[in-house]
Amino acid sequence: MPATHHLLLCPSSAPIPLSLLGSEMSAAVGSFTALVPQPATRRRVAWATRCSVAGSVAAASPILKNLHLKCATPLPVLRHIADAMAADMRAGLAADGASDLKMILSYVDSLPTGNEKGLFYALDLGGTNFRVLRVQLGGKDNRVVDTEFEQVSIPQELMHGSTEELFDFIASGFARFVAKEGEKFRLPQGRKREIGFTFSFPVKQTSIDSGILIKWTKGFAVSGTAGKDVVACLNEALKRQGMDMRVSALVNDAVGTLAGARYWDDDVMVAVILGTGTNACYIEHMDAIPKLQDLTTGSGKTIINTEWGAFSTGLPLTEFDKDMDKESINPGEQIFEKTISGMYLGEIVRRVLLKMAEVSALFGDYVPDKLSVPFVLRTPDLCAMHQDDSEDLEAVDLILNDTVGVTRSSPDARKIVAEVCDTIVKRGGRLAGAGIVGILQKMEQDSKGLIFGKRTVVAMDGGLYEHYPQYRKYLKEAVTELLGSEASKNVIIEHTKDGSGIGAALLAAINSKYSTEV
Ligand code: BGC
Repeated sequence: MPATHHLLLCPSSAPIPLSLLGSEMSAAVGSFTALVPQPATRRRVAWATRCSVAGSVAAASPILKNLHLKCATPLPVLRHIADAMAADMRAGLAADGASDLKMILSYVDSLPTGNEKGLFYALDLGGTNFRVLRVQLGGKDNRVVDTEFEQVSIPQELMHGSTEELFDFIASGFARFVAKEGEKFRLPQGRKREIGFTFSFPVKQTSIDSGILIKWTKGFAVSGTAGKDVVACLNEALKRQGMDMRVSALVNDAVGTLAGARYWDDDVMVAVILGTGTNACYIEHMDAIPKLQDLTTGSGKTIINTEWGAFSTGLPLTEFDKDMDKESINPGEQIFEKTISGMYLGEIVRRVLLKMAEVSALFGDYVPDKLSVPFVLRTPDLCAMHQDDSEDLEAVDLILNDTVGVTRSSPDARKIVAEVCDTIVKRGGRLAGAGIVGILQKMEQDSKGLIFGKRTVVAMDGGLYEHYPQYRKYLKEAVTELLGSEASKNVIIEHTKDGSGIGAALLAAINSKYSTEV
């Protein structure tokens, strides 16, 4: 199975794996194909708005000012968002359907202890790539003895094809990976290989190893999966490959990240994914979940998958966000995700630039056709432009040229472009920060001292968080503003690289039908 790990270099930053951010954007291009304009020559802007380049930059500035205004996230707005997040969490815990937040029970009520032992697999489907991983766990002293993984991109057509086609593709890639298992991985005789299946879409879990897909997100539109048990879909596909393995745990990527991070650090209480899509989960007391009157667990605690991508209360939205949502394959859904996650930031910026080009001739007399192509500008492009500190913003010039076909841009126009990127990314990062504080606030209100009196770790994963320094900075600033500098010192927001893969394997170990502890 060929590993597809392309890199896009972001000036003065770590390389961005397109597999994590960039190529996933293509998911959305596919979903918007009906809207892509027919190829044509570059359009002239209306005569009345044609003006000199210097004049056009001035003409763009009211649009920029208005954008600043509409995207502003001063402290009162952040507070309102954090409070609304906490309130929506409570509503979602009280009854199904009572809130934008589904507050899904994960059926994970035991977290890794470090004692887990044995060979486990993880299979991770969450964007346009799927990852497979095997890990040999060695117990308390040896922890992760060995691990291997591969990543494969999913062809566009499969993201809009049938359930069988998608799962067959995954199962066959997985079968090839399993066939390459070397000597250093050891499965005791008579045991089946066990899998932690990370499936990063909204799923109504029915047990630790079963769950029904509620709907696809992130540009996926595979027919016939919604309403089905995704573990059954995987099992059937594995059978068609002649594989006899057992799915021991079905987990969301946020839940896998929390479990993976908790393996190393007992203070991890929350996990957040900021990549193509976004989500958060946290550890909740069973008695704080009124909608589950009858269920109890040994530990009295469980992980709740908030599905916060669907949050929408009080968000500062612009005409660009609203139009993007209207034209998306899931209008009215995943509004928080569409405002803060990697799949959408580039598209929002493209829409702003298109308006500036059309209405105020930002790039001169012509509007390049490519600028009208949905999702042509991707978040890694924003990141590269955002970090351009050259005097004439040469990287901005290059990217405008290469990605949206702007052949001539003045330094002033490039400055405006960089400001647009900053405005949209700043709003995204700060709103994500407010969301995190909302979760911490809710936990603290329920159990005084649980969060703020001590060290608390928020485990972060996802390409957007990992590879976009300004986004990270804005997120952390918002958390500090909201909590105050003293309290925020105890809140550690920490990147957990690949936590969700190992986390899923650990949850497979914990839920294994064999004894896997030391
Ligand atoms: C999905 C979540 C997932 C998140 C991050 C969202 O679109 O609804 O289930 O955790 O993306 O991958």
